[in-house]
Amino acid sequence: MASAFCLPLAIASTLAQYTNLPDVAPGLFNVSARIQIDNTNISAAWDALTNFPDYPKWNPFVRSSVVVDSRNISLSIQRPVENSQLLLCVQLPALPLPVNENTQGNPLNTQLSYENVTHVQPERGRLAWEYYPNPLMAAERWQALSVNGNGQVLYESREVFSGTLAPLTQKLYQQKLQESFNAQAQGLRLWLQGGYRP
Ligand SMILES: *[C@@H]1O[C@H](CO)[C@@H](O)[C@H](O)[C@H]1NC(C)=O
Ligand SMILES: *[C@@H]1O[C@H](CO)[C@@H](O)[C@H](O)[C@H]1NC(C)=O
Ligand SMILES: *[C@@H]1O[C@H](CO)[C@@H](O)[C@H](O)[C@H]1NC(C)=O
Ligand SMILES: *[C@@H]1O[C@H](CO)[C@@H](O)[C@H](O)[C@H]1NC(C)=O
Repeated sequence: MASAFCLPLAIASTLAQYTNLPDVAPGLFNVSARIQIDNTNISAAWDALTNFPDYPKWNPFVRSSVVVDSRNISLSIQRPVENSQLLLCVQLPALPLPVNENTQGNPLNTQLSYENVTHVQPERGRLAWEYYPNPLMAAERWQALSVNGNGQVLYESREVFSGTLAPLTQKLYQQKLQESFNAQAQGLRLWLQGGYRP
């Protein structure tokens, strides 16, 4: 009896879950999030993810992302372009939702990081940047949009960490990063469902 009931579950669990994230090499650990966002479309969601000046209005994790040149000077077009550099200001852990541009961060949880934009693929709904290329730690964050089997927008994000500093990063930050990825996914859903206008 029991095994007859268990069989379909066992078969289901061997089917890979649908994803629009690319296959990447495994690292020491990764953090990820996925969320279905109803009543929106890919183009509005893509616009939200790539419109950096609006991040403070909805993003509880990446409170700002500024496209800068090699001298750390902010560029006039604040959208991701491959091989450009980003200066991220993150809250780790993320702030409680909802947030807006006036929500104050906790100075003790504020971290700055430089990221190199590696992939901007609007036709595939994919975007990626990596922790500033360095020998001690590799960490590339992918974000992907697609339409899932329910005909709704699926937002996914995943960052894989490897390198000498990865064990320490895992110990100190894995859980906070995981919570923050979830918080950003929920923040994006709130923003897109709250009457977002590009
Ligand atoms: C991410 O971590 C999960 C859980 O440890 C693992 O199953 C999965 O293969 C990892 N994915 C990548 C791309 O590293
Ligand atoms: C996508 O959603 C936005 C915002 O609601 C809307 O302005 C736009 O017309 C929609 N685009 C399509 C192709 O439905
Ligand atoms: C780059 O500029 C930001 C302020 O816009 C500053 O916080 C950061 O420390 C600067 N980084 C470097 C390496 O000068
Ligand atoms: C970003 O990384 C790529 C590949 O490592 C490199 O070619 C490019 O010069 C880097 N760009 C910046 C702004 O660091």
